[in-house]
Amino acid sequence: MNGARVLLVVSGGIAAYKAAALTSTLVQKGASVDVILTADAERFIAPLTFAALTARPVYSSLWDAPERIPHIRLVREAEVAIVAPATANIIAKLRAGIADDLATTALLAARIPVLIAPAMNAAMYENEVTVENIATLKARGYEMIEPDSGFLAEREHGVGRLASEERLLEAIEGARARRRSLLGKRVLITAGPSQEPFDPVRFIGNASTGATGIALADEAARRGAEVTLLLGPTLLAPPYGVRTERFATAQELLDLALRESREIDLTIAAAAVADWRPSERSAEKRKKSDETLHVDLERTPDVLAAIAAAGGSKCIVGFAAETNDHEAHAREKMERKSLDAIVVNDVRAGAGFGLQENGLVLLVRSGARIDLGRASKRTLAGRLFDALEPLLKERT
Ligand code: CTP
Repeated sequence: MNGARVLLVVSGGIAAYKAAALTSTLVQKGASVDVILTADAERFIAPLTFAALTARPVYSSLWDAPERIPHIRLVREAEVAIVAPATANIIAKLRAGIADDLATTALLAARIPVLIAPAMNAAMYENEVTVENIATLKARGYEMIEPDSGFLAEREHGVGRLASEERLLEAIEGARARRRSLLGKRVLITAGPSQEPFDPVRFIGNASTGATGIALADEAARRGAEVTLLLGPTLLAPPYGVRTERFATAQELLDLALRESREIDLTIAAAAVADWRPSERSAEKRKKSDETLHVDLERTPDVLAAIAAAGGSKCIVGFAAETNDHEAHAREKMERKSLDAIVVNDVRAGAGFGLQENGLVLLVRSGARIDLGRASKRTLAGRLFDALEPLLKERT
């Protein structure tokens, strides 16, 4: 924890006093801790306690020193933010994007990992709306530190006690480690569909939105990698901090990939590239007639195979979009394209493309099979990098 930069947000619950003990432990372990208190937290514990423990100013209002823009500065200076305790109220506000005080404004501006440690009465924690808020925040990439069960302030037993200090510290360490795990690594990611035109307004495309590749690029950047994202036509925005080049056709992707795939540590090809393109592209819009239209299709270049053949990437991972015999087909693709690993994506109706949730399995050249389970694309991106990092270490 030595040298860690932690932003601790304390909201107004009875467990607020435990945040003081956490602060003390963090400081003793060599972390520098900035503390934001909500107005309700100040009813439970005085800012002075945290100021004395951290030897730093404690913040609770956007308006104390507005010229220093505290909500932006505090999240920029920290490596990780933790909300402990997090009340049902602050969780609901985060889910809705409400930013009506320093704590919620800073958290809304956070591009660092945000850990949330809920603490509240069991009935509030189990209320459908809280359950839904927590699930949504998880899917958006917030990390929940589940509360413990035990004696609650209301003198009853149930789930809702702030997680133990040990678990809070572990979560902070884990977030910091992941944040640095790809430091100095260069990662190339292809994402999105391709569009192969047969006239200026019509094309062959597919249902990919690029969401998985975008989530992977975002995750790699969060782990400290220098990321280049080659992104096809999609309405989704590329992630912050990621150098992004746009392509439309397989040929454009190939040209970009050959230019960008030198001295790369890890390439992940998540793009759903069209396998065929119209052999001829008419310069003008084709006029309709009553005749059946025949369009000849020719193969597109295989971008991933070309990247592998060029040899500029130390570790190469492909995707296999399959509707049947998933793993057998994927293993065959891994061999054929000389990949180090392949991610099996089930794209039967109701799965895969365009959905928030997905289910992925990673197959490694050595024979290993790692089921990444069903989860949001963001969570899966985290699990995929957790699984790939040991492989990357072997290679680099
Ligand atoms: N790929 C590529 N360039 C292509 C086609 C595919 O880079 N022209 C990449 C994809 O990004 C993915 C992997 O290759 O990582 C998929 O391999 P492919 O053999 O094309 O599989 P499918 O697209 O699933 O096609 P099929 O099942 O029809 O063989």
